[in-house]
Amino acid sequence: KDFIIIAIDGGAAAGKSSTSRALSSRFNLMHVDTGSFYRATTVKLLEAGVPAEAGDALNAGLANLELGTYIDENSAYIVVNDWIPDESIRSEEVNANVSHYAAIPELRKFLFDYQREQATIAQEEGFAGLVMEGRDIGSVIFPDADLRLYLYADPAKRAARRAAEGLADSIEKRDAMDANRKTAPLSVPEGATLVDSSELTLEEVVEHVSGLVENAY
Ligand code: C5P
Repeated sequence: KDFIIIAIDGGAAAGKSSTSRALSSRFNLMHVDTGSFYRATTVKLLEAGVPAEAGDALNAGLANLELGTYIDENSAYIVVNDWIPDESIRSEEVNANVSHYAAIPELRKFLFDYQREQATIAQEEGFAGLVMEGRDIGSVIFPDADLRLYLYADPAKRAARRAAEGLADSIEKRDAMDANRKTAPLSVPEGATLVDSSELTLEEVVEHVSGLVENAY
């Protein structure tokens, strides 16, 4: 294949970003972290005082957001009204609010086409493929992906990872909200390969997953 799409889903702090980044440089794939899309949107809606519920205020808030894409090395980043999101999208306030916004169908619809467009951008930019991480990539955004992975790590491992980052983040609460919402819930996509990283180092996960990528070509 001259272009492959890899979908990586899983709960918070399951190791999706590190794994995706490693794959992107190894296979020359464009890396896209869709969690950052929901986080950046959350920052903008909080800023505008738009509550996390469907309705006119939300629709108006979304209509005011213009999305662009910025590419740096192997990753594509969202740009919102000319703002390139920084570390502020990982604040405790955003951690506490993002799943509430992400549960709103209108907001997910707002980001749907934009996420699909990333494949076209990756092709235009000459990448060999796209590796996209999130919660509903293999189930909703790219159900036809060449490889669908579901990363899992036991709760103690995940809590330790977040603690090392020094940020309060109730990952189990977020996972519960993400898994129980009606629209595009966090779930193991059909045909996905489950990867349990609890007992593995990042290098071991990447080794294992790279074998799966090679078979997907
Ligand atoms: O991946 P990250 O933990 O940064 O994602 C933040 C939040 O964005 C998730 O907890 C979830 O509510 C939402 N999200 C989503 N669908 C995606 C990616 C993220 O609902 N594809």
